Amino acid sequence: MASPPDTSKTTKLDRYHSYIRRINSSKFLAASSKVLFRVILLVALVLIFFFTLNYHPLPENPHHIHTTQNLLSSAFHGGGADWEKQVRHSSTPRRPKGFSVLVTGAAGFIGTHCSFALKKRGDGVLGLDNFNSYYDPSLKRARQKQLAKHEIFIVEGDLNDAELLSKLFDIVTFSHVLHLAAQAGVRYAMENPQSYVNSNIAGFINLLEVAKAADPQPSIVWASSSSVYGLNTKNPFSESHRTDQPASLYAATKKAGEEIAHTYNHIYGLSLTGLRFFTVYGPWGRPDMAYFFFTKDILQGKTIDIYKTQGDKEVARDFTYIDDVVKGCIGALDTAKKSTGSGGKKRAPAQLRIYNLGNTSPVPVGKLVSILESLLNVKAKKHVIRMPRNGDVPFTHADVKLAFKDFGYKPTTDLTTGLRKFVRCGLYEMRFHLLLKMPS
Ligand SMILES: NC(=O)c1ccc[n+]([C@@H]2O[C@H](COP(=O)([O-])OP(=O)(O)OC[C@H]3O[C@@H](n4cnc5c(N)ncnc54)[C@H](O)[C@@H]3O)[C@@H](O)[C@H]2O)c1
Repeated sequence: MASPPDTSKTTKLDRYHSYIRRINSSKFLAASSKVLFRVILLVALVLIFFFTLNYHPLPENPHHIHTTQNLLSSAFHGGGADWEKQVRHSSTPRRPKGFSVLVTGAAGFIGTHCSFALKKRGDGVLGLDNFNSYYDPSLKRARQKQLAKHEIFIVEGDLNDAELLSKLFDIVTFSHVLHLAAQAGVRYAMENPQSYVNSNIAGFINLLEVAKAADPQPSIVWASSSSVYGLNTKNPFSESHRTDQPASLYAATKKAGEEIAHTYNHIYGLSLTGLRFFTVYGPWGRPDMAYFFFTKDILQGKTIDIYKTQGDKEVARDFTYIDDVVKGCIGALDTAKKSTGSGGKKRAPAQLRIYNLGNTSPVPVGKLVSILESLLNVKAKKHVIRMPRNGDVPFTHADVKLAFKDFGYKPTTDLTTGLRKFVRCGLYEMRFHLLLKMPS
């Protein structure tokens, strides 16, 4: 019988080979995990870099208003010499003793019209606006385009950007500020109260802080509102009537603005004039206002809600045409006295004023609709309902004697004439698609 083959040698060899394989494979594993680790690290770094560049803070609430501010307000940081040149050029007056005016809210309805009027008479105008999305920003962009044709530059930025404001005051010696930037609209305050606090209170204070530190300090004319009369029942509304019963947060922030203005006048010698506008309307107007969305809805065949008061009376407004308001703003600027502070300190008592700028003839909203029907040649589908408690007041009526006495303010446009201009401009100049594409 043959003896079994001697396998002891091959077994040793096999063990040796398997040992070598294990060492190699663990070396390979170690090497490949190093490569893998480096690749992961690299990818992570690329991702962190990418997200840092594109990071947008999440809105604090679903009603957050979008502004391009985070990315662009500080357009000035990268703007450099060209940006400064535009700022200087736009704000340089072209008439002897002309003003140099910073118009905040220049891409807004009233801001655009005032900027045009000031530039037309030879004043220097620099705009500031954050182009927020409270209403379709493409309308603000369209206004900006028109202003640019007249060499009016709008700096894109927020009232709360102190660095930007200080920079503007470093570059330009503003003789005046026409402060119109604000969160407007009465009803929206129930949806997004913070936006009113940010723009109408914090933003206003920020502007006043920068203005008080400027040397020389500018004179400031700013937009308050007829809404401060709130639940006041005396008619017509006079500047001497009580304004301590606001019916909306919007009104409360405007009233707060009036008190804040008092403080900055008292402590720092800033010359401050507040203007209480009464339902301003006209070409390039605001899509959130009744005359604007009624026009849109009537043309689209939609039913419009017409409010009556809790006591079944007609709701009425002292509708004021934009050209009259612009004249009032310019009258206030022309009669504004210089601020008296310097180095942040008051040197003498300074001017502090408040004026109504209205039309002095309230019109029921039903009448507004019938004027629109005849101008558009379309019958409106109406739904009359009780006014909800959303901040609206039943009636406004301005007494403008004070503005007349101090700067000759005299409204001259009745509602039919003004609406005719609005409709004509809406249909032709403003490109009516802006009206029609607005969401209901
Ligand atoms: N239109 C009216 O009937 C009426 C009535 C009473 C008072 N007002 C007041 O008049 C002023 C102008 O009103 P409007 O009708 O032209 O409104 P608007 O909304 O068309 O204009 C305001 C502009 O300010 C800008 N803005 C808002 N917050 C800003 C911020 N924090 N920083 C920079 N820009 C900001 C907006 O983008 C907008 O372009 C407002 O202060 C408003 O409260 C208007």
